[in-house]
Amino acid sequence: MKKILLVGNGAREHVIAETLKRSPQEVSIIAYGKARNPGIIALSDRYEVGPLDTFEQLKKLATEEKPDFAVIGPDDPIADGAVDALLELEVHSMAPLQTVARLESSKSFTRDLLAKYKIPGNPKFHIFLTEQGVEQYIRDELGGDFVVKADGLMGGKGVKVSGEHLHSAEEGIEYAKKCISKFGRVVIEEKFVGEEFSLMCFCDGENIAPMPAVQDHKRAYNGDTGPNTGGMGTYSDADHSLPFLKPEDIEKAVEITKKTARALFEETGAEFKGIMYGGFIVTKSGVKLIEYNARFGDPEAMNVLPLLETDFVKICEAVINGTLDTLDVKFSKQATVCKYIVPKGYPENPVKGEKIEVGKTAEEVKLYYASVDQKEDGIYMSGSRALAFVGVADTIGDAEKIAARALSTVNGKVFYRDDIGTDALIQKRIDHMKELRG
Ligand code: GLY
Repeated sequence: MKKILLVGNGAREHVIAETLKRSPQEVSIIAYGKARNPGIIALSDRYEVGPLDTFEQLKKLATEEKPDFAVIGPDDPIADGAVDALLELEVHSMAPLQTVARLESSKSFTRDLLAKYKIPGNPKFHIFLTEQGVEQYIRDELGGDFVVKADGLMGGKGVKVSGEHLHSAEEGIEYAKKCISKFGRVVIEEKFVGEEFSLMCFCDGENIAPMPAVQDHKRAYNGDTGPNTGGMGTYSDADHSLPFLKPEDIEKAVEITKKTARALFEETGAEFKGIMYGGFIVTKSGVKLIEYNARFGDPEAMNVLPLLETDFVKICEAVINGTLDTLDVKFSKQATVCKYIVPKGYPENPVKGEKIEVGKTAEEVKLYYASVDQKEDGIYMSGSRALAFVGVADTIGDAEKIAARALSTVNGKVFYRDDIGTDALIQKRIDHMKELRG
């Protein structure tokens, strides 16, 4: 029997738990999270609630349970050194050590790494330690089309883009100054125009195994309007590419990730073991890197893991042992659509502590619990994305219909985007790329 310590309590960790349990091997899950996720509770043999920003309680649990290995879902504990803390107890993780997790937690580290090792995909960028030169760079070098990136984790809110979150060069300069005073540095870079896609790869430090590409939808409301969120929903296609991508776009993203894994080792002496999740954008001049994350995407994990055909436990062990090249990592050739239900007012003023009830859904739809807490009398929302519904089918259109039908069964103070994965929105993406490529 394999005993696995699973850290995190969102929908991403729920699908991770489900995928571990699908292993042909006997699996016992010991779960640790900030709140009681009913989906993970149902799949685990022990469920402990505790902090994720300190590791004493987590280490105590690992000492008691002696797991074969750990899987750590969320970005914050990875950036704060949860993998290093567990390694002190000789518990290895399917997640990277803190030094290589800088790939996500430090935007300047990643830009410098790509530049130093001549890896394609970087924008024109500059790292400022003081405000001197910021104005000239934004106005003259970048011509007013720019991105300002805080050099630390800010819960997905650290990156601000001109024309979207920053409405003038002045606002950009002000935000850059704030970043410098908070983190001691700021990355300012060229703004890319194109279509974004997520390409996640299992990585054992040297070898990588790509997963199907996914497109996320960050804006809160239909038609890509409203404030940025953690991601309102995602889709993937049966051919493991996306309808607006060319085969060479995926090849390029894979090449960038392969080179980055090797550069990370050369630079730090530590192997990146976990998920290298590239946020890429295809532009009129090819594929560029927006950012790397050092974990599964959320919602992206809900698109790819239900399709995984290879034993996930074996993949985790191969990542940890550096033997990923001996495994044939396979995903079934199906399309998926994931849609999140979120509390009213999300993301800025979400209702909290409200009950949510799911009606009778079709057997074919998958339900993953996210930011909810299970109490004696039902399930309550905690203020962030609450439930994810996933449809899996031969086409994106059919997968969308499965997820959409399930959304309408939910009762509570909630809303969702009903355009994600629809034919109309997919066509808009295709037309956008056609126009850009000329
Ligand atoms: N899909 C966005 C994220 O996981 O950061």
